Amino acid sequence: MLSFISAKEAADKWNISQRRVAVLCSENRIAGATMIGNMWIIPKDALKPIDKRTVRDNSDNSIALKPFVKWVGGKSQLIDELEKMLPTDGEKVFTKYCEPMVGGGALLFNILSKHNFEKLYISDINSELINTYNVIKNNVDDLIAEIKEMQLTFLPMDENSRKFYYYSIRDKFNATSLTDKTAVDKAAYFIFLNKTCFNGLYRVNKKGQFNVPMGAYKNPTICDEENLLNISKVLQNVTIVYGDYSLSKDFIDKSTFVYIDPPYRPISETSAFTSYNSDSFDDNEQIRLAKFIDEINAKGAKIVLSNSDPKNVNIDDTFFDDLYKAYKIKRVSATRMINSKADNRGKINELLICN
Ligand SMILES: C[S@@+](CC[C@H](N)C(=O)[O-])C[C@H]1O[C@@H](n2cnc3c(N)ncnc32)[C@H](O)[C@@H]1O
Repeated sequence: MLSFISAKEAADKWNISQRRVAVLCSENRIAGATMIGNMWIIPKDALKPIDKRTVRDNSDNSIALKPFVKWVGGKSQLIDELEKMLPTDGEKVFTKYCEPMVGGGALLFNILSKHNFEKLYISDINSELINTYNVIKNNVDDLIAEIKEMQLTFLPMDENSRKFYYYSIRDKFNATSLTDKTAVDKAAYFIFLNKTCFNGLYRVNKKGQFNVPMGAYKNPTICDEENLLNISKVLQNVTIVYGDYSLSKDFIDKSTFVYIDPPYRPISETSAFTSYNSDSFDDNEQIRLAKFIDEINAKGAKIVLSNSDPKNVNIDDTFFDDLYKAYKIKRVSATRMINSKADNRGKINELLICN
């Protein structure tokens, strides 16, 4: 007679989480698994299914990776320009990559799709964002199970129920403090909110509470499983740090390519997009960053820094030209939101500053 074990026993036996066992059962990947009431039972001699991560080989290093969140100031539009600045040949070899203000990581994921660096370092001052990077690195299966469930619940709902659900997740996100125990839940809420909120904004009030309203997407992809699995795989080789960009100083040396993309100086009076966190990135912060750039320049690193061009608004504003007069400054054209209204987009110049 066939004998069965519980999902918990299977989880212990295969050294995976109970939630992962439930997902594998619901995906029909465990032959003979049956649901009794609201619990799965699994044939005692069932074999552990091969995890998708172990069969998706990246030996040719050519998987296409996309940022897993939308991020204000995301650099997707500038990738071609940034790529031209990557030192890939010449007599000097750069084996390390550092992006200390990583945000959504548009360049990082482009780099990880195509280029080989021996060591990589990313950081950000946004603790929820960095938690999500860490959870994707260390616990992607549980994360996927959670956001898949949210997607399955949310998408079939009508507008009113979606609103109710969105705000209940936002409340849970704000009410749950980040600990080892809540890390996966918080990363799941973070991705859900990013994919369903207004314009993918991350904005917090003075108390640090996320306060962006729901967006108006008809059919958002909340769980891009394949991309998350691929990202998880490449992040295994990346040091992920929560904190100030200056912590990366010890990592950076003469064989490091550094890309820094600080929060913008607001380009119009109504654009308050420097508030990624409750502290804004004012001119004194830009000056502190320029000093840091000088320090790592002295170490011999290759540096690229991007920023908005204040001359877009005031042709006489030479703030960055003065601050970085010892460096090369290139102006490139990009389309940006020029104030907080979604339809108010325009062509503006961005600055690429390098040594
Ligand atoms: C313009 S965004 C980066 C966007 C990114 N390049 C992308 O493609 O999505 C700037 C980032 O710097 C982070 N940041 C702000 N102050 C910081 C600090 N002192 N140290 C590290 N990161 C900081 C913000 O949280 C934000 O994610």
